[in-house]
Amino acid sequence: MSLNTRMNSFWLSKESNASLRRLLPRLEAKYKDKTDHAEWDMYMERLKRHFPRLFEHLHALYGTDYDFFYYLENTLSSATEMWLARPPELKALYAMREADPHWYLSHRMVGAMCYVDLFADDIEGLRIHIPYLSEMGITYLHLMPLFKVPQGDNDGGYAISSYREVNSSLGSMEALAELASELRDHGISLVLDFVFNHTSDEHEWAKKALAGDEEYQEFYRIFPNREMPDAYESSMHEVFPDDHPGAFTYSNRMKKWVCTTFNNFQWDLNYENPAVFNHMTEEMLFLANQGVEILRLDAVAFLWKRLGTNSQNLPEAHRIIQAFNAIASIAAPAMVFKSEAIVHPDEVNKYIGLEECPLSYNPQLMALLWDALATRDVRILKRAMEHRFKIPNGCAWVNYVRCHDDIGWVFTNEDIEAMVLDAKHHRRFLNQFYTGRFEGSFARGAPFQENPLTGDARISGTCASLTGLEKGVAANDQTEVDLAIRRILLLHGIIMMIGGIPLIYLGDELGMLNDYDYDKDPAKTGDSRWLHRPHFDWKGAEQRHGTNTVAGRIYKGLLRMIQLRQQNLAFTRAETEFTDTGNPHVFGFFRNHDQYSVLVLGNFSEKEQSLDARRLRHMGMRKTMVDLHAGRTLTATQELIMEPYQLMVLTRAV
Ligand code: GLC
Ligand code: GLC
Repeated sequence: MSLNTRMNSFWLSKESNASLRRLLPRLEAKYKDKTDHAEWDMYMERLKRHFPRLFEHLHALYGTDYDFFYYLENTLSSATEMWLARPPELKALYAMREADPHWYLSHRMVGAMCYVDLFADDIEGLRIHIPYLSEMGITYLHLMPLFKVPQGDNDGGYAISSYREVNSSLGSMEALAELASELRDHGISLVLDFVFNHTSDEHEWAKKALAGDEEYQEFYRIFPNREMPDAYESSMHEVFPDDHPGAFTYSNRMKKWVCTTFNNFQWDLNYENPAVFNHMTEEMLFLANQGVEILRLDAVAFLWKRLGTNSQNLPEAHRIIQAFNAIASIAAPAMVFKSEAIVHPDEVNKYIGLEECPLSYNPQLMALLWDALATRDVRILKRAMEHRFKIPNGCAWVNYVRCHDDIGWVFTNEDIEAMVLDAKHHRRFLNQFYTGRFEGSFARGAPFQENPLTGDARISGTCASLTGLEKGVAANDQTEVDLAIRRILLLHGIIMMIGGIPLIYLGDELGMLNDYDYDKDPAKTGDSRWLHRPHFDWKGAEQRHGTNTVAGRIYKGLLRMIQLRQQNLAFTRAETEFTDTGNPHVFGFFRNHDQYSVLVLGNFSEKEQSLDARRLRHMGMRKTMVDLHAGRTLTATQELIMEPYQLMVLTRAV
């Protein structure tokens, strides 16, 4: 630590103590008598514990504002009021989580995600379908944003007009809170989004801004002419170029330019304004109080903007999240943050930490699973995992095959170049492959935000359509269908076994195909991500117990892997050790727990593959091993033969 940093941290802790000393009596006077004194003391204890880091971040963000102390006090008052309003059931939940603070690392965790309307019409429908989730062993349910939004296009709920109102076609906030509680009774944690980078242009704040209220115009990033927008755009990337070029939108009513990183109806909030932080604190804690156990922080990379940079992943974005984390630890403990950073892998990892986001999507694994499937080569996947899979203790990846968004090729150029491939070329190949334009491709996907000039694009498509099921079914080709089922199970098998929380997009467990009808809906047309957000097929779900139906084969295969995960100690808080299987088509890793260890092997090719058995013995495998996945014992003297796309889970002697 340099002298400067030491002085600085000495100064910080002195000032933080002083601020707290001034603030505590004021909070006590206002709130202490509103609750049980023992509870108040516990609250105070948490406040004292987490205040220093809250102070540090807020001071770094807003310390130069002359009214900093005013905002600091406001933030703590808000936090305290929201804590007082927190239902007893959630306070009790914390008592339980305190005994096992890293509960989300458990091998029992299995995630699912869905849109409430597409899965079950509304909140009540979802409640009725809880048994379906329980049957699969789901313990984590991410409901896509279900708040009040503008009619028509609202980016699938990501343009929020009120964080405190549920979209009336889905139900009410009370129904949502009851659902959270009922899910909890079934061992399922509710996951909701905190869409805090932007609001819709119909949010009350935006409406006031539109009406000319300057106080609210400062809630957003609004400029009187093109000067600043031009300056910002010269170094920013376009996220949705099909919607609007650049990152700003002109408002006729204000005669001003608004920063809109995503769609033109999604207005970026201005976190340089401490009032915004303060208000969003209240919105966050309001959601927490409805029973959210895991909060998915949406679009974290974009929170802060600075001229001359691409305005992504700036240090201030991290501070904002860490400040929210400190507040949640004080006023809504038991709620865990999950980051949605779909950016360069090195940047993704920077959001992960106990004091920032203990959970994070793993977009790199997702992208490289698809890469390995297209190339039948696992070497890039292996290399990337060796470098970036390990994250701090107490943190976990949320591993997914695909989600509601497009598949972007978010791996590093270096990992591609290490294979003597050209990164640009390689991404273009993957786009060609998954849009089915590449000769012989099994995939049926569509490009998303394609740039015909550069060939850049991302990919839309359901898991089944991208793995060949759609093509196989259309051609009535049983061999293709069979291979597609194997691919679906292989991808899901890897996310199930690799360590972290597996996340299933509901419908993929039945092999649901692309929904081409989205194009007929004016609110959806033009956004190909709707291709892979089909209406859940409850008729198809009825076939899930059949052994000969496609849905049944996928479902049963998945169920088997879920059971394997949930019942085997090798998947409990175990270390993941990647290994070179000696065969470029076969991905392999150990899961090592104190007394149990397994070797997971995945063949990413449609051809039989063999592994050198002596090599396996070198790694501590015996000649005779049990394949927990197939449920049989096998002996490999010379070589171990793997079927096309086979996934093996072999026990290792310890
Ligand atoms: C997130 C969501 C995506 C949405 C965007 C803007 O990335 O996953 O669906 O379009 O944020 O809110
Ligand atoms: C970009 C953003 C990501 C968002 C996605 C939506 O990749 O980084 O946050 O989910 O666009 O397509």
